[in-house]
Amino acid sequence: MTQEPVNERATAAASGAAATRRFFADRQGARPGADQERVHLLVSEILKGVHETIRRHKVTYDEYDALKAWIISVGRDGEWPLFLDVFVEHVVEEVANADREGTKGSIEGPYYVPNSPLLPAETALPMRTDEAGTRLLFRGQVANVAGKPLANAHIEMWQADHYGLYSQFAEGIPDWNLRGTIATDEQGRFKISTIRPAPYQIPTDGACGRLIAAAGWHAWRPAHLHLLVSAAGYSSVLTQLFFRGDQHLKDDIASAVKSELILDPVPAQDGSGHEVTYNFVLAPA
Ligand code: DHB
Ligand code: FE
Repeated sequence: MTQEPVNERATAAASGAAATRRFFADRQGARPGADQERVHLLVSEILKGVHETIRRHKVTYDEYDALKAWIISVGRDGEWPLFLDVFVEHVVEEVANADREGTKGSIEGPYYVPNSPLLPAETALPMRTDEAGTRLLFRGQVANVAGKPLANAHIEMWQADHYGLYSQFAEGIPDWNLRGTIATDEQGRFKISTIRPAPYQIPTDGACGRLIAAAGWHAWRPAHLHLLVSAAGYSSVLTQLFFRGDQHLKDDIASAVKSELILDPVPAQDGSGHEVTYNFVLAPA
């Protein structure tokens, strides 16, 4: 099969601009007013950390100018959402969900889109007729922490395709491809046909890519499914699921893997790819 290299279809500039638009569309008006004391405290401490690093490592003017040029280029390339979600969000998630009962959370990343098509409990994610990749039957149940199944819970799911590309952020993919909102049945169950996503490389042609190359890091995230599971009266869980055996489980550039979130797929009974069961547990709101 002929396929353009991933990075020519998901440029930093295109996916960064789309992620920036998405962020403002979702969050505008929803942010609480900034508390002056809190701004003072947090910004002072962050700056102190920067100042101490400069003193400790005797940062030169050349290095300062390189930093300045790089920071300007992050904005120019539209890569602030990508940079922050890869290098910072995992700690915000850790703090936010420190006391969460039930299914572990993980980072949202820049590619969530709300209001995906509502689908029944037994369904296929929207996909192209010739969608590439290994078939994956993803099934399970949503229950509360006491074990009671939750009927009509919503599982919002979004994922990269076989080439590591997300619809609405890379060019030329139908809008809702590999995105959907699945409602669980009376027993809280779901059974979703999809494909296994590919490991995902964050765009390498922009500011984040230049940083990663300059530091001698790699740009990979392990393959993952994104999920937002919600039910009336319960606290929603925003998470990701990974695949046992993936090469990048231990060195995810976004530091978002947790051992409880690794799937163990097995060959499907009907011989068509893989199947896996994962059960979600929600705590009361
Ligand atoms: C990024 C992409 C993802 O798919 C993800 O889950 C987290 C971060 C990124 O490119 O920043
Ligand atoms: Fe992702």
